[in-house]
Amino acid sequence: MSGHGTPIPMTSRKAGPLKGDAHVPGDKSISHRSLILGAMAVGETRITGLLEGEDVLDTAKAMRSFGATVTDHGSGEWSVHGVGVGGFMEPDHVIDCGNSGTGVRLIMGAAATTPITVTYTGDASLNGRPMGRVTDPLALFGSQAFGREGGRLPMTLVGAADPVPVVYEVPVPSAQVKSAVLLAGLNAPGQTVVIEKEATRDHTERMLQGFGAELSVEENEDGRRITLTGQPELQPQTIVVPRDPSSAAFPVCAAIITPGSDVLVPNIGLNPTRAGLFTTLQEMGADLVYENMREEGGEPVADLRAKFSPNLKGIAVPPARAASMIDEYPVLSVVAAFADGVTDMQGVKELRVKESDRIDAMAKGLRAAGVTVDEGDDWWTVTGLGQGNVPGGVRVASQLDHRIAMAFMVMGMATEKPMTVDDGSPIATSFPIFEDLMGSLGANITRANS
Ligand code: S3P
Repeated sequence: MSGHGTPIPMTSRKAGPLKGDAHVPGDKSISHRSLILGAMAVGETRITGLLEGEDVLDTAKAMRSFGATVTDHGSGEWSVHGVGVGGFMEPDHVIDCGNSGTGVRLIMGAAATTPITVTYTGDASLNGRPMGRVTDPLALFGSQAFGREGGRLPMTLVGAADPVPVVYEVPVPSAQVKSAVLLAGLNAPGQTVVIEKEATRDHTERMLQGFGAELSVEENEDGRRITLTGQPELQPQTIVVPRDPSSAAFPVCAAIITPGSDVLVPNIGLNPTRAGLFTTLQEMGADLVYENMREEGGEPVADLRAKFSPNLKGIAVPPARAASMIDEYPVLSVVAAFADGVTDMQGVKELRVKESDRIDAMAKGLRAAGVTVDEGDDWWTVTGLGQGNVPGGVRVASQLDHRIAMAFMVMGMATEKPMTVDDGSPIATSFPIFEDLMGSLGANITRANS
């Protein structure tokens, strides 16, 4: 099954040393937010380094449907002429967010406090994911949602005509939910407050402040309390999108497990709410260093140098770190297969409601490839076989999930026999240059079956 046209089986074979520079695409989270906040500002926002993956392109299309002028100037340069907070017009067709949970949830929030009726849909993966986690808090503003059983897409959301501000404690660690509430709060009079017990990625807060909204954050041992004053006039911005740490994870992990490798991944955003994987890899004994540490646009940025690391050790990943590496567990589980000992990943229930059930998808493929995986509702462990001992040699299902497909392609670079995924087409949602980039480093990924 594919939600992206014809399935594209891909095979990754043992690679020679990976060498060179890996220029990964722009950050997906920041790209979505640049387009949405640009559409809610008055005037023209300029964006450089936008991720031109399918997920973000679907958000660009959606912003056009709401009345913003979104222009692609080529080479990652985009402009958005916004319609202002509360200025979204009612789209005359269904908004299709493809594979993107971030896209649909943030857009639902942004449109929920304007009196327009909008119907949303997505691919088979997105239409299976829970939307109640955003439509429940959005109902507090006065919006109404009519969806399929279990709060699933396709779904129609009727925006509030007289929105009221809300105080909302996010029940699951989710930047998407937090962001949906904050974006809805933009068009509610008075102060909207969001409380999160665990810190999740804070791009929405930082960018709202950048666009001129009045937003403050109080942090204490109970978590973070974010207060937003509604109905600001957002000022258009010039945004340089940093490169995505979640995409950097793939060449970094590939270099760590592939003998002889030495790869530089330049200009990676190391916002602490995103960098948990790199700390974890260092704790496992990976030869991974930050070079040229600097600050750009208020964010820590560095070049990552990753080298083959033959003596990796399994570790217990602290559950408190989960939110800062939530998208990186699939590729971490691959690295764990090449370590000695057990890698223990706890407090990761959210992995079960991503583009796929990521614990299930990885466990199935890893087990088929000869690796022992144990799992429970919110935890899993991988028992490593050590470098040079992971059999591979199987075809696994990517389950319409870009990160599952890329994780198994990385795995095939160091397994004894090749790894095949049944469908690599979802990779285009977040990392459209993955095959070319990995090929330029020395990887051997082909689109045939064997
Ligand atoms: C994202 C938040 C995370 C992450 C997703 C991007 C965002 O999802 O998995 O890839 O940009 O806000 P959750 O908020 O559901 O954890």
